[in-house]
Amino acid sequence: MVNKEVEKPLLTKEEISVRTGELAAQITGDYKGQDLVMVGVLKGAFIFLADLVRQVDMPVEIDFVAVSSYGTDTKSSGVVKIIKDLDIKIEGKHVLLVEDIVDTGLTLKYLSGMLQGRGPKSVEICALLSKPDARKVEIEVKYCGFDVPPLFVVGYGLDYAERYRQLPYVGVLEETEGSEDTV
Ligand code: IMP
Ligand code: MG
Repeated sequence: MVNKEVEKPLLTKEEISVRTGELAAQITGDYKGQDLVMVGVLKGAFIFLADLVRQVDMPVEIDFVAVSSYGTDTKSSGVVKIIKDLDIKIEGKHVLLVEDIVDTGLTLKYLSGMLQGRGPKSVEICALLSKPDARKVEIEVKYCGFDVPPLFVVGYGLDYAERYRQLPYVGVLEETEGSEDTV
């Protein structure tokens, strides 16, 4: 039986907290005085978005989209399906897509293209993590927390088969043999 275990933290909660504050300050500086909708990509971005928006020092609207591009496996399927669309109208407003991680880039490429079609002033991307070596399509991440190696990471919102999202840090998942999966 193959189980999966989280190795030591790749990013500690302190590192994540400091970097989130820096990104929030940058976002505030860039958008102050303008209409900004921050759009969290569910489910992975829920913790990052929550921590980020509390440090953004200006009024913002918050909404969510849910997409599926992954099953319960660790490989990208390349298929993006909208499961929950925006409630807020974004026409004439600035949009900041907030994502947990940019891997192949397929999800955000699709999402930003779709939102561009609704007449916003701009669509930019803020991602906690980016795996530049895993990119299949070119995509500009205007606000990036950390570049990480092309390993499967979990925690701080990121899951493997819906588990590990609640970890306060980001860790690398490693396979171990001989242990029963008890959850
Ligand atoms: P992309 O379309 O390949 O860029 O994949 C984006 C989505 O895949 C992210 O929003 C995550 O939900 C998921 N993903 C990619 N890499 C990882 C990872 O290392 N851990 C957990 N989820 C990941
Ligand atoms: Mg995600």
